[in-house]
Amino acid sequence: MSSSPPDVPTVRGGPEDILTLDDRLAALRREFAFPEARVRTMIAAFHDEMARGLRGDPSSLKMLPAFIDVPTGRESGTFLALDLGGTNFRVLRVELPGGGGEPLIASERFRLETEHISLHADALFGAVARFIRHFLESHVGSGAYPMGFTFSFPIRQERIDRGELIHWNKGWSVDGVVGRDVVELLNKAMAREGLAGVRVVSLDNDTTGTLMARAYRDPACDVGCIIGTGTNACYREALERIAKPIGPYGRTHMLINMESGAFDKALPRTAYDARLDAESENPGGQWEEKMVSGKYLGEVARLVVAAMCERDGLFRGDLPALFAARESFGTELVSEVEADVSGDAEGVLDLLARSGAAHARPEDAAALRQVCRLVSERSARIAAAVLAAVVTWVDPEVERPHTIAVDGSLYEKHPDYAEEMHRTFDELFGGRAGRVRTELTTDGSGLGAAVIAAVASSGASSGASPAVSPPRSRRRRG
Ligand code: BGC
Repeated sequence: MSSSPPDVPTVRGGPEDILTLDDRLAALRREFAFPEARVRTMIAAFHDEMARGLRGDPSSLKMLPAFIDVPTGRESGTFLALDLGGTNFRVLRVELPGGGGEPLIASERFRLETEHISLHADALFGAVARFIRHFLESHVGSGAYPMGFTFSFPIRQERIDRGELIHWNKGWSVDGVVGRDVVELLNKAMAREGLAGVRVVSLDNDTTGTLMARAYRDPACDVGCIIGTGTNACYREALERIAKPIGPYGRTHMLINMESGAFDKALPRTAYDARLDAESENPGGQWEEKMVSGKYLGEVARLVVAAMCERDGLFRGDLPALFAARESFGTELVSEVEADVSGDAEGVLDLLARSGAAHARPEDAAALRQVCRLVSERSARIAAAVLAAVVTWVDPEVERPHTIAVDGSLYEKHPDYAEEMHRTFDELFGGRAGRVRTELTTDGSGLGAAVIAAVASSGASSGASPAVSPPRSRRRRG
């Protein structure tokens, strides 16, 4: 990190801090506001950090070269894809017909248990390899398979089919992986499972996978973004603007995984953010991610609610169990609370009653909804600021259309998130805002990984040998 977090102020107040709920909400509105002037300051700081990262100077943006460029849309072949980095682990078989036709996808989702994401590399990659074997047995059959591997963490790559984990995020902590090539760890685990025919031809991040899945169908797509458990963005950069040494690569453009969740400039933290950070698995890290993504939003709201309960008489000072423990109020509940647009927050009251808070009053429900709104609105505006910064980096006057491929449960499920982002684009770009489209692209880590594997196998980006098409077998649409 290039700057350290401020001292952690306590969120408890003395008696002099007691406010009415309305006054407290007004104060919170000021604390969580992210108005246009702040957005513009953040964009300028973001551009500085992008430039530093591309030069190889210290920056909170890693600006990681991804050794791949956008597809032509004519890629073809059959590929396996792995998606590792969220709550579920997915294995896919993707058939790209070529000529822009619809891909055929068979996929299966496996739940990763806590032990897989908190023990040792062997436990994680061993479980992954077993799942792959199971998938091959039920969906593919034997043969030789090129595979695209989406690994949704910061990876340092010097070529398309290798990459070292820089550090874990999103609460993952598996020993024996940081600093190691994750493709090698996977290959060894697959060899132990007897999966000799599977060859990893490309390694990508979920943002680059998402961009590629959309770019396969839409040539205007030049930005990819995840707003889910974690958050991050990538974009297509001209090679001449990447000033740091990157090694051999045969094309004029390359995707850059920014690791934007680590951005830490011009983002004022409240006391609640500071406390969340101090109690997290990675204090000081992922500053922007902790103000934006689904792993954290519910927790920020919970900390505010707990303080209002203790200080200001929310819930009559009796904290419901739903808010009593770290991460007990998940971000999916933030979305659920805000989906209730009734004048008297009746649906929120109902949700509270169902979760055991029978003592909640209508004013408690209304205050909870406002807290959720403040936290998610700030998140959407910061996320929009990141994307606006990327768009204006590649096209300062927004003269061309830009499609931003977005994946992630927060963006997808929150009732007003996308609208709030576009309101921010309207403020920034006025009449040109219509040139910036966000498109929900949910198949990034699967289809995108396969498209990357296809581009990599064609030799265009990496010099890798051509893909081998496995024998045709059962197919179904994913
Ligand atoms: C990781 C990124 C990833 C993002 C979204 C972040 O925590 O560092 O690599 O793209 O989460 O999954």
